[in-house]
Amino acid sequence: MSQTPHKTQPTAPSKVFIKTYGCQMNVYDSERMGEVLGERGYVTTQAVEDADLVILNTCHIREKAAEKVYSELGRLRKLKLRSGRDMKIAVAGCVAQAEGEEIVRRAPVVDLVFGPQTYHRLPDLLDRHDQTGTAVVETELPVDEKFEVLDAPSTRPVKRGVAAFLTVQEGCDKFCTFCVVPYTRGAEFSRPADRIINEARKLVDAGVREITLLGQNVNAWHGDGLAGRDWTLGHLLNALSQIDGLERLRYTTSHPRDMDDDLIAAHGSNPKLMPYLHLPVQSGSDAILKAMNRRHTAAEYIELVGRIRRARPDIALSSDFIVGFPGETDADFAATMDLVRQVTYAQAYSFKYSPRPGTPASTETGQVPEDVKTARLAELQLLLGSQQASFNEACKGRVLDILLEKPGREKAQLIGRSPYLQSVFIDGGDHAIGETVKVAIESVRPNSLTGHMVEA
Ligand code: 5AD
Ligand code: SF4
Repeated sequence: MSQTPHKTQPTAPSKVFIKTYGCQMNVYDSERMGEVLGERGYVTTQAVEDADLVILNTCHIREKAAEKVYSELGRLRKLKLRSGRDMKIAVAGCVAQAEGEEIVRRAPVVDLVFGPQTYHRLPDLLDRHDQTGTAVVETELPVDEKFEVLDAPSTRPVKRGVAAFLTVQEGCDKFCTFCVVPYTRGAEFSRPADRIINEARKLVDAGVREITLLGQNVNAWHGDGLAGRDWTLGHLLNALSQIDGLERLRYTTSHPRDMDDDLIAAHGSNPKLMPYLHLPVQSGSDAILKAMNRRHTAAEYIELVGRIRRARPDIALSSDFIVGFPGETDADFAATMDLVRQVTYAQAYSFKYSPRPGTPASTETGQVPEDVKTARLAELQLLLGSQQASFNEACKGRVLDILLEKPGREKAQLIGRSPYLQSVFIDGGDHAIGETVKVAIESVRPNSLTGHMVEA
């Protein structure tokens, strides 16, 4: 009887499932976690039930966001029990940073807790967990160490789409009285310009055509530029726009106080900088802006918008709003509605104030009743929704430059993005993903536009 030669079965790679909550900084962090784990042989999966490691990359900005994490942990516990698999469960991001050990106490199913500054140490944390068999909580590490590690050249090419995020700044020193970010993400930190430019080049080499610079307070970015000059974000954007093959630049999120003259000028002079700006104002009432510690008035914001629009007349604006901040009266809310009518937004996010533990506003007297917040939010969203609809409607009949991002569901359909961040469905054409094409906009749906390609 002949014997079949013995073959060693390759072991299947471990699978990681990453669920991302909250802002684009978390989207970026999740991508990098995937890469760090990839170096250790993990592959990412979209099916949570197949995962050996589940990471919830969490958001702590509002109460609802934090509570979602605990509900998800409850579901994961049941899934783990039902399947009998050796599934590790990790909580990352801002809830991890803010709650630390408390997470393991409330949800003992959790094996790892690590904050936004520590994810590059994930493989070590996993080893530590394997060795000790107990939950590992790691939330203390300086942000510069994180970027130091992430700036090291990757040994593995990473496949990316046409548009990518690039974190250039972390943390915040503004201390708006409602916000947890200065506590969860820590003090402001800017990555060095040369590192950012290198990372952008790598992205472009991998096929990226549009880069969005990210930071909690991105326009506070500053650094040493070429020839020893002090650079602010406008200079950095201009340097990045020199990269061949990079077609579009964006940045988010900005604080009105940090919109300096160079940055405003870049909107007028840098053709790669897209005419879209997310510039949160939060409220239109001076009393509330003061109580929020925003350090500008409604009139100053409106004046700033005027200067930006003079530099780039077709710029589309977006904002964040909070209704029902402690002490907000009907007159304060009316001032917010007035500001919205004066500025007119193409897009906006609006929230009910949510008291966050440890922030000054959470212990203020004069908390606004829930039903009042609900009514104000509905009124504001109606106005913002109608402004967004008008903005989209005004695109009908225009020819816009569309960056092609992916194939659509229907035959010969492509999906791209307009300069104003709208999704655009395009019929026909044999152009390739990654190209920018001229598209005549024919119809408008609530969240997208439709059109056909025209000759340049
Ligand atoms: N309650 C409601 N909204 C908040 N935001 C931040 N903190 C809170 C809070 N405590 C909103 C702000 C911010 C956006 C990211 O989230 O509008 O700009
Ligand atoms: Fe939070 Fe933005 Fe204010 Fe910083 S500037 S405290 S991140 S709302």
